[in-house]
Amino acid sequence: MPELLRIEGAIPDFRDGGIERRALEDLAGGQDGGMLLRFSPERAELMLPGCRKPFFLDFKSRELIWRALHSGRHSEAVCRAVMGGMKSPAVFDATAGLGRDSFVLQCAGARVTMFERNPVVWALLFDALRRANGDQAFMASLPNGLPALAPLGELASRPELGRADSVYYDPMFPKRRKNALVRIEMRVLQALAGEDRDSDDVLPKLLCRAARRVVVKRPAGARSVFAGGAAPSGSADGGACRYDIYAVT
Ligand SMILES: C[S@@+](CC[C@H](N)C(=O)[O-])C[C@H]1O[C@@H](n2cnc3c(N)ncnc32)[C@H](O)[C@@H]1O
Repeated sequence: MPELLRIEGAIPDFRDGGIERRALEDLAGGQDGGMLLRFSPERAELMLPGCRKPFFLDFKSRELIWRALHSGRHSEAVCRAVMGGMKSPAVFDATAGLGRDSFVLQCAGARVTMFERNPVVWALLFDALRRANGDQAFMASLPNGLPALAPLGELASRPELGRADSVYYDPMFPKRRKNALVRIEMRVLQALAGEDRDSDDVLPKLLCRAARRVVVKRPAGARSVFAGGAAPSGSADGGACRYDIYAVT
């Protein structure tokens, strides 16, 4: 169960079904001094305890645009692993998080659908997509548009979702002990999502949804995730991490 937080401003309606709005309402009621999620007409932002600057997602950030437009499918390990030789694969990102990998994959030519189960992370993503979509010059500068965002949910309860050429799975790694210099993005994910402990159960489910491959991001040197006894058929080196590839035959 995610931690309760304070919510300021009106929670948007998001979509017709209202699942996301209800999920956020269920999380409201946190203590002063804890996390604060703020909605304003401008944007959705998160204040972490001890952090003076608000955190929000921005697909227009210089760092992300550089990564997406200047590295791309040949030098980005995530693109090599997820797209393989496919030119424009349908990709299901089962762990959207802050949307960075999805955005890089989309810019490299994939057609990405993002999936996320944490209501706050989902709301931050939704808001970043809304702002990016509203900027015509930015949209015109993108080679392949933005990734799509699926409704908030748990994979187990959404069997209709996730049929794709390639399925990407990047669960939260266990916290590193030396934590002082962890980047704000990772602090946000650790505060909101914590460690994902269900990887061994999730991977077999993902294998049923992929037409060609499932790619699992792991810390360099970590064991591979158990996939019903199946070992990965290959992997791509991402420096501090590794992308294990499970080919579907
Ligand atoms: C390490 S982050 C992903 C980071 C992402 N690749 C990026 O580029 O920003 C993992 C995210 O996946 C979500 N997640 C983990 N397991 C999930 C599952 N089974 N279904 C949906 N979301 C999941 C977590 O809530 C968290 O936001």
